[in-house]
Amino acid sequence: MVVPPTEESLQRAAAILRSGGLVAFPTETVYGLGASALDAQAVARIFEVKGRPTFNPLIVHVAERGMLPQVVEAVPPLAEELMDRFWPGPLTLVLPKSGQIPSLVTAGLPTVAVRMPAHPVALELIRQAGVPVAAPSANPFGYLSPTRAEHVERTLGSRVDLIVDGGRTQFGVESTILWLGERPLLLRHGAVPQEALEEVLGPIEPQVGPRQQPLVPGQLSQHYAPRTPIRMAYPHEVAPEERKEAGYLAFRDVPRGFKVVKVLSPTGDLREAAAHLFEALHQLDRLGLRAIYAEPVPEVGLGRAIMDRLRRASS
Ligand code: TXA
Ligand code: MG
Repeated sequence: MVVPPTEESLQRAAAILRSGGLVAFPTETVYGLGASALDAQAVARIFEVKGRPTFNPLIVHVAERGMLPQVVEAVPPLAEELMDRFWPGPLTLVLPKSGQIPSLVTAGLPTVAVRMPAHPVALELIRQAGVPVAAPSANPFGYLSPTRAEHVERTLGSRVDLIVDGGRTQFGVESTILWLGERPLLLRHGAVPQEALEEVLGPIEPQVGPRQQPLVPGQLSQHYAPRTPIRMAYPHEVAPEERKEAGYLAFRDVPRGFKVVKVLSPTGDLREAAAHLFEALHQLDRLGLRAIYAEPVPEVGLGRAIMDRLRRASS
């Protein structure tokens, strides 16, 4: 059931979380499928509903730093500095886990991924629930991430106890994941650009990409994929005959000859392009096209997260 984010429905959603249920809710990145991070049985339902073939670690969401002792063992000074700068916001930090977090949440790892989302509905929901909330993106395993409540409803629907509709998400790509070991490692490109992190940390090396061991599902080479076959190509690389039955996901300019074209950002703004990425793919995926071609975008700022998602979707 989809509800607007009224005071009453948030109270109801919080009660569902406290009693072990599942609530899909908006964040500034994508919609999350949430359960109490302290309740192993509730977390098990997340895996069941998403159809994840293996138990992969989840991101735990907090509404205030006062909740952190329930989630992490300690907050090192560098993490504190990053929280000052980027929280609430789309930066996920991987830190040593506390004993209160069931090992199902972290897939048995001694570390836990944690973030404070910059979305009033998410913050209010977590605050009212009074527990940290484990939430992966609210999509079936391997499929496109949801940027609207209707994406969640269409794909997970009645298997979720409640879907809180907060409209379209602002960033449209997931959070950036940073592992804070002896030296910081970028585990997933996301809504906080690598360049912004480097202003604080100095040069960092991304540990992402298809060549790496699949440490996390966001690093699996096939992920975030529509059902329609998708390939990255500039317009001139697609033969005129093929264009007639294909959709094109363009960065800024409309190419000729395709059956349907979605433009990510007419002004060439990478932030706007990221915000439209999954939504445009959801739309194209419903048209019964023979193929989708996606135009490469410049690999700077949010362009890195876009290219990462497109490479995985098309691999
Ligand atoms: O923007 C986001 O991060 C969204 C919203 C809902 O917050 N959530 C999201 O969750 O993208 P999910 O499950 O789709 O991706 C979580 C990623 C996974 O790739 C997971 O393996 C990684 O975080 N992760 C979680 N715990 C980890 C850990 N202890 N070490 C390394 N990676 C971890
Ligand atoms: Mg996901």
